[in-house]
Amino acid sequence: MNNNYDKIANHYDTLSRLVFFKSQVNAQVNQLQYIPKNSAVLIVGGGTGWILEEIAKMYPDGLKIVYVEISAKMLAISQKRDCKNNQVEFVSLGIEDFRTHILFDVILTPFLFDNFAEKRAAKVFEQLNGYLKRDGLWFIVDFSLDKGDGKWWKWLLLNSMYSFFKLLGIVEANQLINMHPYFLNFDYQIVEQRFYYRDFIKAVIYKKNKMTFI
Ligand SMILES: C[S@@+](CC[C@H](N)C(=O)[O-])C[C@H]1O[C@@H](n2cnc3c(N)ncnc32)[C@H](O)[C@@H]1O
Repeated sequence: MNNNYDKIANHYDTLSRLVFFKSQVNAQVNQLQYIPKNSAVLIVGGGTGWILEEIAKMYPDGLKIVYVEISAKMLAISQKRDCKNNQVEFVSLGIEDFRTHILFDVILTPFLFDNFAEKRAAKVFEQLNGYLKRDGLWFIVDFSLDKGDGKWWKWLLLNSMYSFFKLLGIVEANQLINMHPYFLNFDYQIVEQRFYYRDFIKAVIYKKNKMTFI
């Protein structure tokens, strides 16, 4: 299983809104105000690309966006999005196979790491860390079991989602990886942290403080 969402690309957004209403969207849209003007942005696992239109509403031009998505079907839907005058390069690859010399100002990984088993999460973290500028921002949004009450329903919902995706043969993860220690280890600082959907969705903006090499 390589976490490719081809099989449900046409239904993913509907399913997401049915279960989470607009929480997954709101968590990501709130972070966009932190994108600096005229910056280089890397989006990994952007799904159907609705985020590109949200970015374009806020920044109609000046951004150089690289959009890496493993699902060819998700990518095809994304390519039809209205990105206004931003320059977008679409890359049909798993992030593990993507190589670049660009150092990005911002990296977005919305609901990416909760697909990964620990080994892949660690590898992709180090890879992306190497692509982010010093003082660059990393927007991460994922499910979380850490905060608030109602742990039982979160656990149940999370496991139902993992079972559903396992049945379809899509997602390799069996449990959530807590990515916060990875950021701590590389001296990132939290710029903003917000929770959504009764604390089941965690959206964090991290700032990279020093240059670390992979
Ligand atoms: C849970 S969906 C989230 C989609 C989107 N971020 C959203 O919130 O609507 C995860 C997306 O990541 C993509 N993906 C999974 N593993 C990937 C990888 N290794 N490299 C690039 N994209 C990946 C999947 O194809 C899917 O579109």
